[in-house]
Amino acid sequence: MFTTITTTIIIIILCFSTTLITITNCSNPNPNVGVGVNWGTMTSHQLPPDKVVEMMIENGFKKLKLFEAEKPIMQALIGSDIEVMVAIPNFMLYDMSRDPSYADYWVDDNITAYSYPGGVNIKYVAVGNEPFLKAYNATYLKITLPALKNVQNTLDRVGLGSEIKATVPLNADIYESPESNPVPSAGDFRLEIKDATIEIVEFLYSNDAPFTVNIYPFLSLYGNRYFP
Ligand SMILES: *[C@@H]1O[C@H](CO)[C@@H](O)[C@H](O)[C@H]1NC(C)=O
Ligand SMILES: *[C@@H]1O[C@H](CO)[C@@H](O)[C@H](O)[C@H]1NC(C)=O
Repeated sequence: MFTTITTTIIIIILCFSTTLITITNCSNPNPNVGVGVNWGTMTSHQLPPDKVVEMMIENGFKKLKLFEAEKPIMQALIGSDIEVMVAIPNFMLYDMSRDPSYADYWVDDNITAYSYPGGVNIKYVAVGNEPFLKAYNATYLKITLPALKNVQNTLDRVGLGSEIKATVPLNADIYESPESNPVPSAGDFRLEIKDATIEIVEFLYSNDAPFTVNIYPFLSLYGNRYFP
């Protein structure tokens, strides 16, 4: 079935800890490639948002993922061209899945408020962050798709649905190969999350939204020194 689906795949390669922005580690010699960064804010000493935006522009970063729509950061991005993915944290998924008005309030406060010509160049809303991670014990299994649908429906209703797509950044461990045949071509979505993931893929496809997966090459290498 997947071979018949051609949809954009966003692979976010995490070059560094999500708790810290380390621009030099990922800086790209070719400014046209459009390298992006994750801007995490769980840090003891936050840099002033306007300085971070300035550094991003000076170093040719074109894309940014935010884990929450923090107002000072959103405000610092106003008027820049940086393409932004704004995330909804996992703890909001339950309310977001249950009540479409939560999605309305969130989108109104955190997306619509910045989506005007000359505002913030928001391209994606990330609904949750790696909600199917094994370590979460299926906590978000049933609520992720309803939350995704509510967010996209709101974006559509306020007229932003063609420019801004809701997606779910999934983790690399949604996919695995059997131990008896540990090659990528024998792999599949992990059994417990397989049906839910396929439903998400179908929804994303029907909405022309990208499938998003976070890949951490340094963790893979740490786990298996033969990782290419
Ligand atoms: C907008 O996002 C911020 C940051 O995540 C959150 O604190 C706030 O509650 C959101 N607004 C609404 C109305 O949900
Ligand atoms: C998942 O289950 C394990 C083992 O029962 C437990 O130690 C862990 O705290 C649980 N994690 C979450 C997020 O519920």
